[in-house]
Amino acid sequence: MATYIVLLGPPGVGKGTQAKILAKSTKLVHVSSGDLFRENLKNQTELGKLAKSFMDKGDLVPDDVTISMIRDRISRHDCDAGAILDGFPRTPTQADALEKMLTEFHGQVDAVPYITAAEDILVERTGGRWSCRAQGHIYHQKFSPPKKEGICDVDGSELYQRDDDKVETVTKRIRVYLDQTMPLVEYYRKRGKLLEINGMEAVEQVTQKLLSALKK
Ligand code: AP5
Ligand code: MG
Repeated sequence: MATYIVLLGPPGVGKGTQAKILAKSTKLVHVSSGDLFRENLKNQTELGKLAKSFMDKGDLVPDDVTISMIRDRISRHDCDAGAILDGFPRTPTQADALEKMLTEFHGQVDAVPYITAAEDILVERTGGRWSCRAQGHIYHQKFSPPKKEGICDVDGSELYQRDDDKVETVTKRIRVYLDQTMPLVEYYRKRGKLLEINGMEAVEQVTQKLLSALKK
């Protein structure tokens, strides 16, 4: 049975940061819906252009296109053993669709770490974030700065600030999260999958908590 871990939590809490670390230690693939949209945008695909119109406003991209993008991605062979899902599902409709597609792909959601932090921390983290153009490696000007300003340590590509990381857009994304994604907390709690993780500490501490919760 393929193993899927769903990372749940508000914008800027550290899902991408922790997903990259977990992917290394579990050897599962990191699948981020936001990164897939940004990659489409970089390649100027129709999906990328459509997604941008929602992302720039801080709204969710419609369920049907999001679900079919994730379905395509996890049907690839590198996901045969499973994946770390970051940013998907984000609505009950997406969660139901995930259950269905995993039955078909002989997989299941094993655990749902739910990472939380206070709103001022989310605003500070997104406000100082720098992302790598080539592969989406994540930095923060104060908490995890790159060795050389503006350059990714891993692949040497340019670092940029996401268009949706402006304070107004982040505030909107948090509202959309509370409204549309919070119901998933109960959804996965009812199924006995939820692992609550305090995301307010430093990256390494959060990773430790995550790994020890996943072991149990
Ligand atoms: P997406 O890209 O998924 O953004 P998000 O969920 O809003 O989350 P972020 O990527 O902003 O934050 P993160 O939790 O990954 O934090 P990170 O690790 O980078 O989605 C963007 C948009 O795409 C959505 O608004 C929507 O429009 C669309 N979309 C995506 N998925 C969708 C879906 N399923 N359905 C519909 N639409 C969808 O960390 C943030 C910063 O904090 C970094 O600078 C990092 O270095 C720093 N940091 C991390 N952890 C710590 C720590 N412990 N201490 C100090 N700093 C830390
Ligand atoms: Mg992210």
